[in-house]
Amino acid sequence: RKIKECAKHVQSATRIAVLSGAGISTESGIPDFRSTDGLWQNSEVREAITRSCFSRQPERFYYYFSQLFLSWSDIKPNQGHQALADLEKKLGKWVGIATQNIDGLHQEAGSTNIVELHGNLRYAVCQKCGTTKSMNGIKEKIQQKIVPLCDCGGILKPKVVLFGDPLDMQEFRKAQVWMSQADLIFCLGSSLTVTPANTLLSHRRNDSTLVIINLEPTVYDEEADFLFQGLVGEILPVLVSYSQKV
Ligand code: OAD
Repeated sequence: RKIKECAKHVQSATRIAVLSGAGISTESGIPDFRSTDGLWQNSEVREAITRSCFSRQPERFYYYFSQLFLSWSDIKPNQGHQALADLEKKLGKWVGIATQNIDGLHQEAGSTNIVELHGNLRYAVCQKCGTTKSMNGIKEKIQQKIVPLCDCGGILKPKVVLFGDPLDMQEFRKAQVWMSQADLIFCLGSSLTVTPANTLLSHRRNDSTLVIINLEPTVYDEEADFLFQGLVGEILPVLVSYSQKV
């Protein structure tokens, strides 16, 4: 019943904002960070994937980065990503997705308005001259444990936001505006513990509907109008298909 009630809100919404996290991609085979089998359970990994490790020991940074993020093979969007793309393409909603993920799976599923709060794996940027290179061109080197260098000699850094890095403020502001204009907000597969990404929720309108879908409790559960504790890839497609019918 709850899901049908929620579907009515989805149906009547015109602008939908989404804050997604690692939990939307676990069903595609990518581990999240804070679950019992999440990446941050390993303290060595947690310490290596940081700005300070990148600056002081790029070899160590790249060793773990390569194992964790360049080893994905055949990763495809799942039904959760697809359901969001359907909201836009089949139901004609305006959907803006602020994702904390770097995997590019929302784009691959067909969603079009996306802010990648924590960057992406498509590019690397020279720390000396600022040139942007495609990650495809340097991936092999990294996998051979060679720290990738720019033509100018500077070290290339993946275009991802590490702990200790600032966010792209222009993109962040775009996501704030999406939140403030939305009549319905989905939080999908995120523990909502990481700042400033989670502060986006403070920009929501008082009369907007907040829907949280997450396996485990989140920091914002009490604020949710609809809370579903379960798999995004199971619940969201049902919600979207009901909202086509109600
Ligand atoms: P977390 O690992 O903190 O949270 C993922 C949440 O998704 C957990 O609460 C899981 O219970 C839930 N979950 C896992 N699989 C799910 C599924 N199939 N369906 C529904 N829920 C599921 O990941 P994020 O909140 O994304 O940033 O973490 C935010 C940031 O912390 C990341 O972007 C990364 C990390 O440090 C940086 O590295 C800067």
